[in-house]
Amino acid sequence: MEKEKPIGVFDSGIGGLTVVKRLMSVLPRESIVYFGDTARVPYGSKSNETVIEYSIQNTRFLLQKNVKAVVVACNTASSVALDELRKTFNVPIIGMIEPGAEMAVKKTKNNKIGVIGTRATVSNKAYSRAINKINSSLEIFEKACPLFVPLAEEGWINHKATYEIAEEYLKELREKNIDTLVLGCTHYPILAEVIQNVIGKHVELIDSGVASSEVVRDELRRVGLETNSAVPGNLFFYVSDIPTTFKQVAELFLGRDITEVIKVDVAELSRH
Ligand code: DGL
Repeated sequence: MEKEKPIGVFDSGIGGLTVVKRLMSVLPRESIVYFGDTARVPYGSKSNETVIEYSIQNTRFLLQKNVKAVVVACNTASSVALDELRKTFNVPIIGMIEPGAEMAVKKTKNNKIGVIGTRATVSNKAYSRAINKINSSLEIFEKACPLFVPLAEEGWINHKATYEIAEEYLKELREKNIDTLVLGCTHYPILAEVIQNVIGKHVELIDSGVASSEVVRDELRRVGLETNSAVPGNLFFYVSDIPTTFKQVAELFLGRDITEVIKVDVAELSRH
């Protein structure tokens, strides 16, 4: 039955697990197939054409695993590939940008919003466009923080070096008097504690995974694809390379044991 199929989720690496964590709490009875493109991470420094191509391959892979909807748990891919994916595939496809933008607009009180993300997301101005579409009078300050991705992949979630790099990246935003900061990369919630300490406790962090999980729930309801199952869903993990830290960081982050992580051949992904 269509409703009992899993939800597909992809990211360039482990970042999308922050979205899986939120999905597990909003939709605990849904099963999830996760694909982390760990052989080709990072996406944030690649061209739009390459990210679109990879996103199409990843979505095709998830559809072969029989998923009923696809969550693009990567802001970089969401900012450049979402339209193309929606044109190419006939299942609900949910991205990160619009849900994150909507939540930021709701939260800000002083109308000054900061956005941090990969180089690609920031140079595409994905969040500025989405936020200003909702309210054109808001002031938005975007800053690319590319080193946060390898730090998160390394599991350096509370390391001295992570603090130093965060100080350097966030000092500009600290001067802008923002009251809301969008974590515009799904890797960043892994470093949320450091980011919060450096930007200041008065700034509200927006996790695009939280915002998008609610959109996934609403969309499944809208199209009648919510599971009828009464038991917790299963999780399946696929990656295009198995970095030594994947299982460890994933277990730490999701707070549960992962029995199996299956490696997918990149050549296989690009063959079709
Ligand atoms: N986690 C991804 C994002 O949300 C991208 C990280 C990367 O591959 O550069 O943008």
